[in-house]
Amino acid sequence: MGKGDGKNDMTAINEEYREKCNTPSDINKLLPIMKKFADGCNHITELGTGKVVSTWALLAAKPKRFVTYDIIRPPDIERAEIASERAGIDFEFRKTDVSDIEIEETDVLFIDTYHHYNQLIHELRSHGSKVNKYIIMHDTTTYGKKNETMAEDCKEGLKEMGTDLNKYGTSSKKGLMRAIRDFLKENKQWKLEKRILKNNGLTILSRI
Ligand SMILES: C[S@@+](CC[C@H](N)C(=O)[O-])C[C@H]1O[C@@H](n2cnc3c(N)ncnc32)[C@H](O)[C@@H]1O
Repeated sequence: MGKGDGKNDMTAINEEYREKCNTPSDINKLLPIMKKFADGCNHITELGTGKVVSTWALLAAKPKRFVTYDIIRPPDIERAEIASERAGIDFEFRKTDVSDIEIEETDVLFIDTYHHYNQLIHELRSHGSKVNKYIIMHDTTTYGKKNETMAEDCKEGLKEMGTDLNKYGTSSKKGLMRAIRDFLKENKQWKLEKRILKNNGLTILSRI
């Protein structure tokens, strides 16, 4: 059987992953680290599909099931769906506000949505208990100590879903690292595993 004949063909995913690693972006240097932590994990969940870059690093770890969420369906998602089908990965894109969902039990949760204290603390508190191994967060350098100004397309997407945008304006707490520290204080079963400062930053929590 040739490598393209079965449901085990990782060729397209590996090619896309290599290309994303070699193309300068806001995350490319962090992709191998994300893949390393995701390797050997059966179930991976991504919050914030965006332009479908981080997705390829997580797919390159070859999970059995991969679920990715965003309020906007990216046109490029189809390539990832097709490549996953060939690789035998059960891939699902869900168009929804991640603030209002219950995720499936997962080994790895990757978070890269709206970089705001209120958003991240809500995501960690809502979904942390469903994660068996690692929580990986992007942009923890750029938005470590300040909240992001929300992009217009994100505002439109959230308004379409009926989200009240005022909820983001009501906190004096700023930045992703404060949210991570607050979550770690409340949840002693999690520890800071690794913090990388380059390429906007990546922070990884692991279950104790
Ligand atoms: C920085 S981008 C993600 C980049 C992506 N990880 C990549 O590598 O291309 C952030 C994404 O989060 C999405 N987003 C923001 N708030 C969200 C929410 N409450 N629920 C779901 N998606 C959200 C935005 O639409 C945007 O596509």
